[in-house]
Amino acid sequence: MHDKLIIFDTTLRDGEQSPGASMTRDEKVRIARALERLKVDVIEAGFPAASPGDFEAVQAVARTIKDSRVCGLARALDRDIDRAGEALKDAQRARIHTFIATSPIHMRHKLQMSPDQVVEYAVKAVKRARQYTDDVEFSPEDAGRSEEDFLCRILEAVIDAGATTLNIPDTVGYAFPEQFGRMIGRLIERIPNADKAVFSVHCHNDLGLAVANSLAAVLHGARQVECTINGLGERAGNAALEEIVMAVRTRKDIFPCHSDIDTREIVACSKLVSSITGFPIQPNKAIVGANAFAHESGIHQDGVLKSRETYEIMSAEDVGWSANRMVLGKHSGRNAFRTRMQELGIEFASEEELNSVFQRFKVLADKKHEIFDEDLQALITEAGAEA
Ligand code: KIV
Ligand code: ZN
Repeated sequence: MHDKLIIFDTTLRDGEQSPGASMTRDEKVRIARALERLKVDVIEAGFPAASPGDFEAVQAVARTIKDSRVCGLARALDRDIDRAGEALKDAQRARIHTFIATSPIHMRHKLQMSPDQVVEYAVKAVKRARQYTDDVEFSPEDAGRSEEDFLCRILEAVIDAGATTLNIPDTVGYAFPEQFGRMIGRLIERIPNADKAVFSVHCHNDLGLAVANSLAAVLHGARQVECTINGLGERAGNAALEEIVMAVRTRKDIFPCHSDIDTREIVACSKLVSSITGFPIQPNKAIVGANAFAHESGIHQDGVLKSRETYEIMSAEDVGWSANRMVLGKHSGRNAFRTRMQELGIEFASEEELNSVFQRFKVLADKKHEIFDEDLQALITEAGAEA
């Protein structure tokens, strides 16, 4: 069985909750369009009750986007759900995502509610959301630290109330892959009406495990993953969309599911989010970092020039880079050097000539981190002048 993995992007909601990453309505619409080109299944556009600006942004996204489903977040409160319903009114396909915390810590200190009250609020919220759309998602916030028996109870109740997606958030990034994956598997097994809903996960990256936890959950039956472009999000961020999608695609031998994402749009979308939020992408970031497909060491460059599979598990073009990048530096070898020179239209009359310019290149590379095309041109001019 090869199921579809639903990709739910929350860059415009949880991503925006990253300190300093707030976006205007028009910026959100531009990113939403890029997410639609990427063929994201669900775009969580914001939290309409949070502010008039966010209401307008969700409304604008809902009116613009045609191919992806547009979702708005709401606490399990009538006024939040009504605001979300109103903001999503013009969407081609709308989803309301409602949540309430279920961990003992949150119920006692934040909500000051008993577990019975929490179940009551959750059921009421889902029923109210169903008055606006038949696509309702429910999240037991801080599920990663909630008691499993209580999760089973509340999830069974919200499915009966009409929830169609059950999202299990690891709100504080506390989970570990094997433990989290198994918990998802057990919830699916134990909840009697589990087959009436899609199980989803939403992992935060406080211990750097958001992607690993999400993928473990997929292996145990989750069929929706919530993620953000570049892993943007609260504190240390959310699971990175590009990493989840490329892991599932690259390791088809492991994952019994596939996504519909157009991976060639990944880099463009990543750059857009980075330029709008002002959050730079670290060079060694998987998939979208400038060095993700760059090879500097001579041994690697030589291998890749002979056959890309020697040191590449994906191709740069598949995620939207124009090509893999050979970075010329002090570790680079003769083969990469000769290839780049040929690309620049420079041919050597003899091996001696090549060797002599290659020696000059090595001396320069000891002084400079990266050698650019202009440096190579200058080396040739210099060698010609001295000859
Ligand atoms: O991290 C979290 O628990 C959330 C919920 C609102 C799903 O973002
Ligand atoms: Zn979150």
